[in-house]
Amino acid sequence: MATKKVQSESKLPKITVKEYKKIIFLGSEAAPFIATGGLADVLGSLPKELAKKDNLDISVILPLYSNISEEYRKKFKFLTNFSVSVGWRLQYAGVFFYEHEKVKFYFIDNEYYFKREGNIYGFYDDGERFAFFSRAALDAIARLNIYPDVINCNDWQTAAFVIYLKGMYYGDDNFRKIKTVFTIHNIEYQGKFGMETYADLFGFPESLSSYIEYDGLVNLMKGAIEMTDIVSTVSPTYAQEIKYPFFAHGLDNIIRRNESKLRGILNGIDVDYYNPKTDKRIFKNYSATDLAGKEVCKAELQKMLGLPERKDVPIIAVISRLVSHKGLDLIKEVAERLLSEDVQLVILGKGEIGYENYFRYVAESYKGKCAAIIAYNQDLSRKIYSGADIFLMPSKSEPCGLSQMIASRYGTVPIVRETGGLNDSIKAVVGDKGNGFTFHDYNPSDMLFVIKQAISLYYNKDEWNKLVLRVMKTDFSWKKQAEKYEQMYND
Ligand code: GLC
Repeated sequence: MATKKVQSESKLPKITVKEYKKIIFLGSEAAPFIATGGLADVLGSLPKELAKKDNLDISVILPLYSNISEEYRKKFKFLTNFSVSVGWRLQYAGVFFYEHEKVKFYFIDNEYYFKREGNIYGFYDDGERFAFFSRAALDAIARLNIYPDVINCNDWQTAAFVIYLKGMYYGDDNFRKIKTVFTIHNIEYQGKFGMETYADLFGFPESLSSYIEYDGLVNLMKGAIEMTDIVSTVSPTYAQEIKYPFFAHGLDNIIRRNESKLRGILNGIDVDYYNPKTDKRIFKNYSATDLAGKEVCKAELQKMLGLPERKDVPIIAVISRLVSHKGLDLIKEVAERLLSEDVQLVILGKGEIGYENYFRYVAESYKGKCAAIIAYNQDLSRKIYSGADIFLMPSKSEPCGLSQMIASRYGTVPIVRETGGLNDSIKAVVGDKGNGFTFHDYNPSDMLFVIKQAISLYYNKDEWNKLVLRVMKTDFSWKKQAEKYEQMYND
């Protein structure tokens, strides 16, 4: 039956309704609860930014590691428990809940998997632990009836979730409607396991093997890339780079094949958390309009590290995991030449033993010019970000990189190699434009050349101060970037 047209369309009042959407993030770490790297920064700040919008309902699902401090744990509320299949095994899963800054956090509990000493990764059974996590997250969504519109999974630890959802849970209408984004924070870590784990541990059916099997191994990241609706990564440049073998750690052809669903969105940082005006960990607060505090930070840092307290010498800082893709070989190549100049070099980080020993040796040989602290130390890192003049980050590859943004926030001028997110966030100084120093080829002489350029500008106080202000004022907040995530979810 035809319905009568009551009013012509043009006479109807125009109302723009913002679509209400439920988004769930899934990841293996998120600040402030548990943090070992950049992923935790992102999952601690992007959901919070999105949750400020009243048309978005934002949740995050995390493992309930025993390393999460009691201060938080005691506030978590128990919701439910059930049994989860991990291959042929049936394992207990509990779900706890905590709302933090308008984001709903769900924690998956199982002490056998998540009550471990020290680290949160690096165990012989990581594959099993995160297969359990992924499966338990799916079952929790059903149990609690919190089916979202979009699930944004992050890195290999949540890749099995995409595979289970798209390959094994699609029979259920509620699950079939869910769209997935799989975000790659680093393509180097893919979750590769022997084929014997395929059915036994992961419980994957034979029919999915063309997605999941790669080079004779189970490759969870590969499976997720093939099966997800959208693949995103953490900068536009990295999205281009991973189409090539140099960056893709074997997955370049898989990325190229799935190119039509690939996006690159640069990360932001939590500019309230990293704020020299309010940061309690630094020696004295300061801001772009009053930099006096930064001088105090520098003097106190020098005192603390046993370096001569000199205002007139540039402090070059490296804060990094000491692993090869961070470009440390370039630093090794030029460290002694650099230290023959009038500079102070400060290194903070831990990682591969070879680098650790090397930096200890340099600091020992150049006492009074170089200090190396072989540790992961949040508190000290803030003191260095605020007290240094120049921040060196010459990564061989860098999906996004947050340290160059944090350093900028503290008025410490970055020197970066033009790769990944470094390329998207730092533009070379030309006249009164640009927010740092950059070089293109992975080559120690090119790096040393721009370091020397930076040092010579440092002695031109007027120009340098102008640059410091530009650097501090660069907008690295999540505001614009979160819009791009929302757009991606709408698409
Ligand atoms: C990974 C990447 C790093 C990125 C971070 C957050 O740690 O190596 O470049 O900034 O994830 O996305």
